[in-house]
Amino acid sequence: MASKSGAAESGRSRVEWASTRMPVMGLITEQFSKAKPLDGVRIGGCLHLTTETAVLALSLKEAGADVRLCASNPLSTQDDVVAYLRRGGVSALGFKGENVKDYYAHIDSVVASRPMLTIDDGGDLTNAAMAKNDGIIGGTEETTTGVLRLRALERAGRLKYPIIAVNEADTKHMFDNRYGTGQSTIDGILRSTNVMIAGKNFVVAGYGWVGRGIASRAKGMGAKVIVTEVDPVKALEAHMDGFEVMSMDQAASVGDIFVTATGDINVINEQHMRKMKDLAIMANSGHFNVEIAIAALERMAKSKRTVREQLDEYVLPSGRRLLLLAQGRLVNLSAAEGHPSEVMDMSFANQALSLLYLARNARKLERRVYDVPREIDQRIAKLKLASVGIKIDSMTEEQRRYVSGYESGT
Ligand code: ADE
Repeated sequence: MASKSGAAESGRSRVEWASTRMPVMGLITEQFSKAKPLDGVRIGGCLHLTTETAVLALSLKEAGADVRLCASNPLSTQDDVVAYLRRGGVSALGFKGENVKDYYAHIDSVVASRPMLTIDDGGDLTNAAMAKNDGIIGGTEETTTGVLRLRALERAGRLKYPIIAVNEADTKHMFDNRYGTGQSTIDGILRSTNVMIAGKNFVVAGYGWVGRGIASRAKGMGAKVIVTEVDPVKALEAHMDGFEVMSMDQAASVGDIFVTATGDINVINEQHMRKMKDLAIMANSGHFNVEIAIAALERMAKSKRTVREQLDEYVLPSGRRLLLLAQGRLVNLSAAEGHPSEVMDMSFANQALSLLYLARNARKLERRVYDVPREIDQRIAKLKLASVGIKIDSMTEEQRRYVSGYESGT
């Protein structure tokens, strides 16, 4: 095991590397460090403790905030990053492989630090904070799952402070959810199995932004991709994107690799698993470990062993072996390192600027779930384009008048 200082040094080197790929965050941090716009603001965050999260946390610290973080998943923590953050004075609670009790204890500890703003990834911190802390003025939410949960709280009239749904920004979900999860999910499958993707029947459950990304990356690597859906429009879209679409019941007996990305429970259930081929691989890329019926798998199996890191083999009474990656938790963050820094650059720029917006405006907002202000989304897209040297056109005055008028027809 690396010594504490060895771990912190490894964390430093990897965080520095990530920051070279995060130019938008670089610009924001530069401005933050001059103007200190979050001076004295206490921020509590529940995020995947990765190199990219460290770039965000250090940027907020540069802005003058007091940042306290905990892990948003028991398996996604990068321990060297935690060591580095702690060395730099940012409280970060979590370690890879922590149990559920530790996970919630860390969340409670962040809530107890009496944050004024929260940053969440999945909704667990916000839920805990709403039950126990009434001094919070606002918060942000990073994920599709978290936004769904918080909208349910809003509908129930139980949202205690305004939330900005970072996930809903175009510069977040169109890139992070699609290209980020697409690439990092394949990365997690490869690191934990080293199987060939080409030629495999690759089943993707769910054709939202995440499912689309995974399906297109798997196709690009030569897999025969099958999509399962419950939404008829998304199913049709998958069909016209060139994928085979069928029910999970049908897909179960032909799939070699299964990835769930629906945000819902028991998408692969006991009946499906009973139909699967020997050595079928199952992985999840949805936020929670509920999409594959793991309890049923545990019950059905006559034996279980860990074959390699993040790869468990279950032997069914029939003798067939089913493989589960990363205990059914987010495979991209548990078996790999999560999304590449380039894409987290935009997600976390949305976080940083939304937190600044909340610090300035939260008291004028209602207890509702809000979109990221359009100007922030557009500004991030412009900065990202500039960082890769892309110039785009702008409308002439004549064009602007044309698209905003109703007079001109054929
Ligand atoms: N979510 C997905 N990928 C991530 C990453 N690299 N860092 C933090 N959160 C993430």
